[in-house]
Amino acid sequence: MRILSGLTPTSAGIHLGNYFGAVRQWIALQEKNDAYYFIATYHAMTSLKDPSDLRKNQLEVALDYLALGLNPEKSTVYLQQDIPEVTELSWILSTLTPMGTLERCHAYKDKVAKGLSADHALFAYPVLMAADILIVKSEGVPVGQDQKQHVEVTRDIAMKFNQAFGEVFPLPEPLILEGAGAKVPGIDGQKMSKSYGNDIRIFDPEKKVRKQVMAIVTDTSGVDEAKEPDGNTIFELYQLCANPEQVEVMADKFRAENIGYGYGHAKQELFEALMDEFGPARKRREELAANIGDVEEILRAGAAKVRPVVEETMAAVRQATGLR
Ligand code: ADP
Ligand code: TRP
Repeated sequence: MRILSGLTPTSAGIHLGNYFGAVRQWIALQEKNDAYYFIATYHAMTSLKDPSDLRKNQLEVALDYLALGLNPEKSTVYLQQDIPEVTELSWILSTLTPMGTLERCHAYKDKVAKGLSADHALFAYPVLMAADILIVKSEGVPVGQDQKQHVEVTRDIAMKFNQAFGEVFPLPEPLILEGAGAKVPGIDGQKMSKSYGNDIRIFDPEKKVRKQVMAIVTDTSGVDEAKEPDGNTIFELYQLCANPEQVEVMADKFRAENIGYGYGHAKQELFEALMDEFGPARKRREELAANIGDVEEILRAGAAKVRPVVEETMAAVRQATGLR
């Protein structure tokens, strides 16, 4: 199956939501599929206006991808701007996209609902995302729950294109994990997101990770009171990174009375589980960061690998639409 996904380098550093919602799946899917994972730099420009940040963040995210286990021998890893044809395809697709569809998309809708003014790029962003997906003729798109709507929009646009100009694109499926990974809670209990400032970044210094874990919002139950683990942010995050026996033990301690076990203890256990889970990746990232030239080379090689796929799609699109 042809797979594509990407992440927006709005800030440096992948968080637990990105990993457990999306990147973890990407790593599994690269084994038996033709997988393409890119860094969505054009998308990041909708909110990032500082050139040095954009330059820095794209490499930071590349380091995160590789440290977590994307393997350039098994999947193709590249930067969006190395395929400038996505902007051409995006234009062509936008001629088939009703305004109403984009008005319903949540990134734009939420911003307008908050009374903030949105620019054209934020409004048009689902069309660029459709171009990212369709330019490699992806059939599966592994993402978190929040991106489902955008993949559905992509299907609609692909369908419209095929109806207007003949079958060029397969209709992609969103691949969304069941359970806690679909919507990982942040430290305030809302969806973890870098734009809400409630995220725990996997590769932040140990001290910072600890500080974020300790800042998880809880109710005021005391150490001797019984507590419900389900729906508790500490427990939900722990379920994602600890093994089943450890999870069972924590659940029992939550439910017990008079054992002097409070949220502070649970947070400490969560912190330790995170360090265990991501220790090897943190080490790998340091090694990779010391050889950043190698990372740049991997991205160049990725761009060279995706190029023929893109050229083939664009030749078909230009032919079908009458541009050529
Ligand atoms: P953010 O919301 O922090 O800006 P992105 O929009 O860049 O994150 O998301 C990148 C990928 O990570 C997407 O596939 C998205 O669905 C997934 N993702 C982000 N946050 C979460 C979360 N809290 N739970 C599950 N998946 C998430
Ligand atoms: N919009 C996605 C996000 O915010 C990132 C993205 C851009 C993407 N293009 C994509 C994801 C194509 C999957 C496929 O997370």
